[in-house]
Amino acid sequence: LKFVCFNNDGIDEHMVWLIGLKNIFARQLPNMPKEYIVRLVMDRTHKSVMIVRHNHVVGGITYRPYLSQKFGEIAFCAITADEQVKGYGTRLMNHLKQHARDVDGLTHFLTYADNNAVGYFIKQGFTKEIYLDKDRWQGYIKDYDGGILMECKMDPKLPYTD
Ligand code: ACO
Repeated sequence: LKFVCFNNDGIDEHMVWLIGLKNIFARQLPNMPKEYIVRLVMDRTHKSVMIVRHNHVVGGITYRPYLSQKFGEIAFCAITADEQVKGYGTRLMNHLKQHARDVDGLTHFLTYADNNAVGYFIKQGFTKEIYLDKDRWQGYIKDYDGGILMECKMDPKLPYTD
């Protein structure tokens, strides 16, 4: 089992994994238009943290880092159906936090969570209260109805992964 993070960098193996992740999102997020999922997963401003097992992607998170604003917007998050509720979602989020803080230099995440995923995000340290200054994020992330805006502040020092 490994955790990887990259964007659409043209490397063949990475493309295969990104397509696998796109297929998981398409199946697990049925309300999202498939073309929209493909566009963001393949967009070079977005990065994806993926769980790879036996060379197959079992889940991931696609996000857009806003480096100057020091926050990231989580666009999609999913684990493949037969691997849910086994702890992968938590490990995935921890790897995302570690990478975003230590590689991208981000301090916060924002996401529009689906109603049924709010419980998962709360367990990952997200809140429905948005403490981040509005002028740091307004106009950067797109409004999206059918979801609840949630925030997570990363600890500046805590090791999120072992
Ligand atoms: N509602 C409430 N609690 C949840 C949910 C949920 N939908 N999913 C997981 N949890 C809880 C678990 O019970 C667990 O709690 P515990 O630590 O007390 O035991 C904790 O959250 C972590 O569980 P994991 O096993 O790590 O979660 P999992 O691997 O199943 O991943 C995920 C969670 C990503 C939500 C997965 O179930 C999934 O892909 N669901 C379908 C797609 C989806 O809803 N994605 C999020 C949409 S919003 C967005 O993409 C921005």
